[in-house]
Amino acid sequence: MKIAIVGTGYVGLPTGVGLAEFGNDVVCVDKIAGKIEALKQGQLTIYEDGLEELFHKVVKAGKLHFTTSMSEAVSGADVVLLAVGTPPHPVTKEADLQYIYAAAQELAQYLDGYTVIATKSTVPVGTGDEIEAIIKRTNPKADYDVISLPEFLREGFAVHDFFAPDRIVIGADSEKARNVMLKLYKPFEGKTQFLLVGRKSSETIKYASNAFLAMKIHYINEMADFCEASGANISEVARGMGLDSRIGNKFLNPGPGYGGSCFPKDTNAMAQMAKKFGVHLHLIETTIAYNDERKVEMAKRVLSVVNGNPEAKIAVLGLAFKGGTDDCRESPAMDILRELIKCSHNVSVYDPKAMDNAHRLIGDSVNYAADAYEAAKNADILVILTEWEEFRHLDLPKLKEIMNKPKIVDLRNMLGAEEVCKNGFEYCCIGRKH
Ligand code: UGA
Repeated sequence: MKIAIVGTGYVGLPTGVGLAEFGNDVVCVDKIAGKIEALKQGQLTIYEDGLEELFHKVVKAGKLHFTTSMSEAVSGADVVLLAVGTPPHPVTKEADLQYIYAAAQELAQYLDGYTVIATKSTVPVGTGDEIEAIIKRTNPKADYDVISLPEFLREGFAVHDFFAPDRIVIGADSEKARNVMLKLYKPFEGKTQFLLVGRKSSETIKYASNAFLAMKIHYINEMADFCEASGANISEVARGMGLDSRIGNKFLNPGPGYGGSCFPKDTNAMAQMAKKFGVHLHLIETTIAYNDERKVEMAKRVLSVVNGNPEAKIAVLGLAFKGGTDDCRESPAMDILRELIKCSHNVSVYDPKAMDNAHRLIGDSVNYAADAYEAAKNADILVILTEWEEFRHLDLPKLKEIMNKPKIVDLRNMLGAEEVCKNGFEYCCIGRKH
């Protein structure tokens, strides 16, 4: 099938590569000429585990192409996937739909033959209706259906999640469109659960899922607060809860709060959208407020270990919003770092993949180290903010030798407390004494 993908970000690009690997002819279109040029030159514009190899394979096989021209991408396409950003509006926090509506308007002119327009971007309920209306207004003769095809890829695991999804949700009110999508996703037949639902339900499933996961993280972080006060151990508590299959053992890792380009945006958008329908989503609103406060609290925790001394050297490990990605958008690590910079002039940072993105956000207000040890040299405190696997294997005796004071604050509970303390460190983590 011929597939056009509008938007080459963390959703569009891995999806394009995956669909090309299944033998489809995929054209990715993006307005940013620099991105398209880089992709044409064989340079990936995002970091995703396992993406590079597959990307080169499908490009070499002639199955994946890039263009800035909407007409080139959309003409003759069987399916157009919309994977453009829906960032939060800076004031209202609602999903900003200008890019997706502009894309709909532009692509409408080039539709020829029956085309399914599938929205992969996370969009408020009813957006499908509006896209349909825009296309109708722009090109009254077009033969098309607009469906919702929510994306559940996690950053850092996008390739894995593309090929092994928990479910494929197809939100289509037309049988013709459903059949086209079932054909496109045939390689998954028998391997995953297909859910065929109405368009509005599908749009809701995406928000309801992300908000639920955010609330699960809120819950475990509050339980960690409780464990700190009561003397229980959050790791033991989470394990005990997770063994109940009704609760499940995933998303029970306490940390500095959730971040990324999805949970903060989608919880806010869901709460705002509900208000418009006259519904008050108390749980989600509480989660949003708690998560914002938590990052400030975590920064205070770090600063209290150095008694608020502005001369103390703080070494920060981890800047991305989670391990396995270079993405710093809405990263709790960046928010905490901003708080730390307010109080200390001597902060060194290191992240295996996110240094460039962090630099774009905070510039030269910190020292950028080549590795964890360079960051830790002469430091009065070492803070772990992102769960990169390499931080689990830090050489503790070496750290002890190069640091000014042996203090570690581990906001991702990555290290073995016993070993850290055995090596002479003062150790502070989340939800447990050690
Ligand atoms: C999330 C969802 O997990 C995907 O299913 C969805 O497709 C995606 O949003 C999206 O809407 O596009 P992602 O933003 O990549 O994926 O990140 P997650 O792995 O869900 O992590 C989000 C945040 O929660 C991170 O800051 C992470 O560190 C934090 N987290 C996660 C915890 O603090 N504890 C946990 O146990 C799990």
